[in-house]
Amino acid sequence: MSRWPSLNRREFLSTALGAAASFSIVPSGPRLIGELLEPQSKFAPFQFPDEFIWGAATAAYQIEGAWSEDGKGESIWDRFSHTPGKVKGAATGDVACDSYHRFKEDVALLEALNLTSYRFSISWPRIQPDGSGAANSKGLDYYKRLADALLEARIRPLSTLYHWDLPQRLEEAGGWPNRDLAARFTDYADLTVRALGDRISDWCIFNEPWVFTFLGYGRGIHAPARSNFAECMRATHVVNIAQGQAFRAIKAINSKLQVGTAFSMSNCEPATSSEADRRAADRAHALGNVWFVHPALRGEYPKAFPGDDPLDLMGVKSGDLELCRARLDFLGINYYRRQLVSAVPPGAGETATGIHNFDAHEGPLTDFAWEVWPDSFHDLVFRISREYKTTPLEITENGCSYLDGPDEHGRIPDERRIQFMRAYLHALGRAMLHGANVRAYHHWSLLDNFEWAEGYAQRFGLTYVDFRTQKRTVKDSGHWYAKLASTGSLT
Ligand code: FCB
Repeated sequence: MSRWPSLNRREFLSTALGAAASFSIVPSGPRLIGELLEPQSKFAPFQFPDEFIWGAATAAYQIEGAWSEDGKGESIWDRFSHTPGKVKGAATGDVACDSYHRFKEDVALLEALNLTSYRFSISWPRIQPDGSGAANSKGLDYYKRLADALLEARIRPLSTLYHWDLPQRLEEAGGWPNRDLAARFTDYADLTVRALGDRISDWCIFNEPWVFTFLGYGRGIHAPARSNFAECMRATHVVNIAQGQAFRAIKAINSKLQVGTAFSMSNCEPATSSEADRRAADRAHALGNVWFVHPALRGEYPKAFPGDDPLDLMGVKSGDLELCRARLDFLGINYYRRQLVSAVPPGAGETATGIHNFDAHEGPLTDFAWEVWPDSFHDLVFRISREYKTTPLEITENGCSYLDGPDEHGRIPDERRIQFMRAYLHALGRAMLHGANVRAYHHWSLLDNFEWAEGYAQRFGLTYVDFRTQKRTVKDSGHWYAKLASTGSLT
């Protein structure tokens, strides 16, 4: 069993950078976003279809606060952030953006931005404080009020059942590596959708299954801070079973509900043109992008290991792959940046995949040091639309962290975010011209918020939040996006 050093998310994603320095492909120095838009054709005006859905996304733990109010139970993120040394600046989500109390203000912001979809998540421990048993009616009431306010504002609620805040009690019972969790999760999905399915028609089962299994159980840099490859692989299988079972439970309540998952994806590009690196990039795509898509849509695991898949290690039993099947109504794509991939000799633990992936630094960097490379967004969306032809896509997250704050007039001039959005939306438009069936785009995020292990050190919002006063101010990028959302024309 291998253990990984404890690194923060950014550091982790850059672990190979030292090694990367020896690859000729790597950085000739950061460039300006404008340069990436060349040639001119990439600027070609694009008209999004009238029915295209414009939205913004958030997650319960990152914005709600009220961490122990109205009967809410403790989650693994409460435990993690309350443990000294886990989150930058000892930050917690105890208050965050206080959206639990200010959700009406946040719905008004969405309206002011002309958005027609709001992707938010439901906190499992608000509904089942210990992760099982009867629902806490106060928790359900909160989401009823939120959904009603959205519907009144003609905004589609797109609700995520699990955005990482597992009830702590369930972690103590073994967490995601414990097979029993698939049944617990299905019960939670069932009772939540029974209560809210009359007003919420669109559901994401999970947010980024790769991130919460690999970073939470494999590398220990997210809650619940375990680092054990075998447990991580077991967790991935339990999540796949849970996805299939929850899908069936939701469809049994109402087959018309639209059900998908928001998957984290990165375009995986070979670090060199060698055959070995190309094959490694394909394995990285299998493990990082479609490990939770393929079992649902095809009833099998994609080929991510040079040898046999570690099915025993994962606890796969006969008949399990049928349980994982789910004809998802849409695939949600959360897209931030590409990955470069090189082949390494397969070893133990995670290196059994024989892949080594690392962030590229050829393009300009955001303030989170994530590379801006819009073409990779086009390529990934196009690839997924080709591989899973009949399933529509929604962009469930895309965004960037820039730390711009108010100027002397109280305005937030975040020109770099506008450039980022323009470039990524042009790339999306090109993927659609090339045939990708994309029906929605959600910017991450509506608000600056609690960015997991980074605490409040990153700002992804279209709206600036002053965390001392909770005052919200729409940034210039928010105004720019509002215009786009009302016309659909990207010029
Ligand atoms: C994604 C998460 C989201 C947010 C963004 C920046 O991986 O789904 O909660 O933290 O990254």
